[in-house]
Amino acid sequence: MSFEDVTRWVRAARRIVLLSGAGMSAESGVPTFRDAQTGLWAKFRPEDLATEDAFRRDPAMVWDWYAMRREMVAKVAPNAGHGAVAAFQQRHPGRLTVVTQNVDGLHQRARSPGVLALHGNIAEDKWLEPPRACCEVARLRPDRPPSCPTCGNLRRPAVVWFGEMLPEAELAAAQDAAAACDLMLVVGTSGVVYPAAGLARSTRGKVVVLNPVPTDLDDAADAVLRGTAATLLPALLED
Ligand code: OAD
Repeated sequence: MSFEDVTRWVRAARRIVLLSGAGMSAESGVPTFRDAQTGLWAKFRPEDLATEDAFRRDPAMVWDWYAMRREMVAKVAPNAGHGAVAAFQQRHPGRLTVVTQNVDGLHQRARSPGVLALHGNIAEDKWLEPPRACCEVARLRPDRPPSCPTCGNLRRPAVVWFGEMLPEAELAAAQDAAAACDLMLVVGTSGVVYPAAGLARSTRGKVVVLNPVPTDLDDAADAVLRGTAATLLPALLED
């Protein structure tokens, strides 16, 4: 299938889901997880940083690592790919739903409406233990991580760690969107993390993978476009 075929599918589709992963933000300067040289998991072990056990073992180290990424993400900007998606949504209200595995908030900053963020948002944090009456965000002890001065409950990044459930409402809405769409654009994800990758396997709509290299979801795709998010999406989503 050619780029022109996919352009025709986009024009004909009444409901589109764009499922994005770390590659969507690569051209904004955010490192991916699994790319061999530059990916975060090439330098760090996920089980040392992105699990609840790791946080309980060494809260300061995990907090600092997320604080570093949070600062990095705050300094970068959405790229032409995020912009093209948001512009398409403005031109065609209700026709395209963004489902993202990214925690960087760049789709939202590009003004995509109704983004379903399956893995949370790195700019936010939440309580580690269910909050008690004493746990108030207004009176946090400013440690790394911040804590409740009365009971010691810790704040933690509001992202989904390995072994954790996805936010229920977002996942349900993403599953509904995947079930109802006639076209799913799978952008910048290696397709190895479930349940996100399962959305591309369960949809009855056409699936198009947009990625510079092969992915685990290529076998589920009706078309594969080799290229980057910031070059392919503006070309694909212009009217
Ligand atoms: P990965 O790092 O696994 O995959 C990134 C993908 O982006 C790869 O397939 C790259 O080839 C592709 N890529 C790189 N540059 C690109 C570009 N400019 N344009 C398009 N694609 C490009 O990241 P994810 O698939 O997002 O989990 O990883 C899934 C989850 O695993 C993440 O959400 C994170 C991680 O552990 C949590 O944070 C819970």
